[in-house]
Amino acid sequence: MKRILSPSILSADFSRLAEEVSLLEDMGIEEIHLDVMDGHFVPNITIGPPVIKSLRKETDLFFDAHLMITHPARYFDRFIDAGADGITCHVEVEESKKCLDMAVKEGIRAGISLNPETPLEKVLPYLEKADMVLVMTVHPGFGGQRFIREMIPKISALRDYIEKNGLDTRIQVDGGINTETAEDVLKAGAEILVSGSGVFKGDVRKNIERLKGIIEGFEK
Ligand code: DX5
Ligand code: ZN
Repeated sequence: MKRILSPSILSADFSRLAEEVSLLEDMGIEEIHLDVMDGHFVPNITIGPPVIKSLRKETDLFFDAHLMITHPARYFDRFIDAGADGITCHVEVEESKKCLDMAVKEGIRAGISLNPETPLEKVLPYLEKADMVLVMTVHPGFGGQRFIREMIPKISALRDYIEKNGLDTRIQVDGGINTETAEDVLKAGAEILVSGSGVFKGDVRKNIERLKGIIEGFEK
């Protein structure tokens, strides 16, 4: 199992995105998390394909696009053209199955996500197909929210299900991950730890060192 930190640029300084991303590269980060919001599936609007495309010219890092949008299938091709390496859609939207199928067909990392109030059972039928399940540990829409601790048993249950069924689906967690919560999600079986404010609030280098330290320490 390869455990990694995936910084969410939602909390980065958007006026200096290229510099922020270059710092992440220097710190040995392998992938970054791009939060796409449409003001419909979630009560906020963020970035879309044009920003991803501009950033694509600046880095070879893996681009993990988290689509918090009602129509992920409708916009799928635009995210591919923009340079997304992985696309995650939400199981709560009607187009999720179609989007997942498109991602599998495209040969990119296919992810399916579920909100805190969505029962784990909803994603189980997709596990054979999905490369990754994103368990939301906050209500999607904003960075800097408090980690919902009740999600720990959900992560553990998903880990058990994956192991029992001999699957290799990866578990990603997103929301409120910082030096105080990272170890708990690792213990529950998470592999890809998304962190926005935990990385970008304060000293980015120190934050990354600490979070990476927790992940590496856990692996020993
Ligand atoms: C929330 C987004 C997250 C967000 C996490 O809707 O999906 O990726 O950036 O931010 P933090 O780590 O600050 O909770
Ligand atoms: Zn996200």
